Amino acid sequence: MTEQEFIPASYSKTIEKGVVTWESPSNIALVKYWGKKPNQIPENPSISFTLNHCKTITELTYEKRDSDGSFSFEVLLDGVQKDSFKPKIEVFFERVESYLPFLKDYHFQIETKNTFPHSSGIASSASGMSALALCLMSLEKQLLGDAINDAYFNEKASFLARLGSGSACRSIEGDLVVWGETPSIEGSSDLFGIRYPYEVHAIFKEYQDTILLIDKGEKQVSSTVGHNLMHGHPYALNRFSQAHDHMKSLKTILKAGDLDSFISLVESEALTLHAMMMTSMPYFILMKPKTLEVINKIWEFRKNTGLPISFTLDAGANVHVLYPKSESVEILKFIENELVAYCQNEQYICDQIGFGANQIK
Ligand code: PMV
Repeated sequence: MTEQEFIPASYSKTIEKGVVTWESPSNIALVKYWGKKPNQIPENPSISFTLNHCKTITELTYEKRDSDGSFSFEVLLDGVQKDSFKPKIEVFFERVESYLPFLKDYHFQIETKNTFPHSSGIASSASGMSALALCLMSLEKQLLGDAINDAYFNEKASFLARLGSGSACRSIEGDLVVWGETPSIEGSSDLFGIRYPYEVHAIFKEYQDTILLIDKGEKQVSSTVGHNLMHGHPYALNRFSQAHDHMKSLKTILKAGDLDSFISLVESEALTLHAMMMTSMPYFILMKPKTLEVINKIWEFRKNTGLPISFTLDAGANVHVLYPKSESVEILKFIENELVAYCQNEQYICDQIGFGANQIK
């Protein structure tokens, strides 16, 4: 697949107006994407669990208009006009316009809401951009007289979502999604996410992710700035090559259900991501003291009980606690008794592996 293949032939139908609604989940990377080339091309491959409960629901209302050469849209979050979202969407529209040539012919109302608390530190860009990309694909599908199949629909939705926010391309499908070309994963692409194509042990089928909201403050550094700091970073090349190695190792781990190796790889990935931030110039620390306290508690509990609990981190202070469903009762008790106290306002979200986006209307 090349970018050219996502440029549509001429549209066969005229659509005056309509509404479409999609819900799309967030995802949590096991092997992290950190560093990008121009046009949102990742420097290294990544793989994520699609989440189930943390979602964005986006309703797109569209009405044909006489094009004046600009994009025409309004954005609402929870029913309230949200002009601060407009610049990011304007940039997204500019990036995808050649693949969705109808964009300037419509006025759009984008009404969006998240199932997770706003400003919780959970990035809504993956779920938000994937939901919007899917809504636009639904309109394109109608303009093409429904002449596209589901596989192409999902691939192009992922391709478009990537141009909004890199990790968003991993939110279209589930339950494990790979993005970034790497020799060990057949069909992997820098342009879009693909469903993980190999055997996965049952233990990883119902994995749990309890998200501890440690710090809900504004992020000190945007992910765009963070990715860019990998240019000329002293450890960049080793890091990118390690991500390829980790993708290969994970293949064996996922098939065998090897929890010990899974835990080591995933925790090492999380700490490496933060190590990259700490060793860039300028350097920064996105973990908070409570993040470290939680990590130490998790390690202590794992040592004392032998239970397969582990953590991963995003580019922020929150901790994702990962564990198999079969150990939920004991691990949730531990989380409630020992970890929730470290969360801001004792807030945490119990999520689990999910199966991708759904069209609601
Ligand atoms: O999609 P972005 O540009 O916000 O980057 C997200 C990067 C990480 O969440 C830190 C890692 C990942 O692979 O999701």
